[in-house]
Amino acid sequence: MEHKQQPHIVLVGFMGTGKSTIGELLAKRLGCDVIGIDEEIERRAGKRIPEIFASKGETAFREGETEALRDALQSNHRRVISTGGGAVLAERNRELMITHGLVIALKADAEQIIARVSKDSSRPLLQGDVSERVHKLLEDRKYAYDFAHKTIDTTQLSVDDVVDQIWNYIH
Ligand code: S3P
Repeated sequence: MEHKQQPHIVLVGFMGTGKSTIGELLAKRLGCDVIGIDEEIERRAGKRIPEIFASKGETAFREGETEALRDALQSNHRRVISTGGGAVLAERNRELMITHGLVIALKADAEQIIARVSKDSSRPLLQGDVSERVHKLLEDRKYAYDFAHKTIDTTQLSVDDVVDQIWNYIH
């Protein structure tokens, strides 16, 4: 890593592993800002993610994702950055994350992911049979999060336990 300041904390992981919730709590505990890349893409585009996918396509979404990630990592002040589940797919993004931050991957088992993502029907990649889509994408992305500096399986943990584990890892 090439940083003089405290490194940014970058949360990666499959959809529904709790990146946004953990990111908020961790940032509060660290006393720093939190930025959600999905929200940042939406803010810049002035559109919600399903609309971006529908009107411009996934490639344009992924370009917006890289731009938002790159800009988020530019800050000289430590930030917690929570990314979308597919942000790790592009080599350019993995490179940015590893170079400018401490990358923490959150994992959860398929049943827990399905229960969480089923509460929100807005994810473009989970249209149709959600369970089938999650299993398929989990298989496709089996190794996608392995580049992280640290992986935490959140399946049996409370959100506070997860924040504690990250805190202990950083300090
Ligand atoms: C995606 C995950 C979503 C969002 C988009 C694509 C993915 O973010 O970026 O729908 O490819 O896994 P969450 O992980 O926050 O749901």
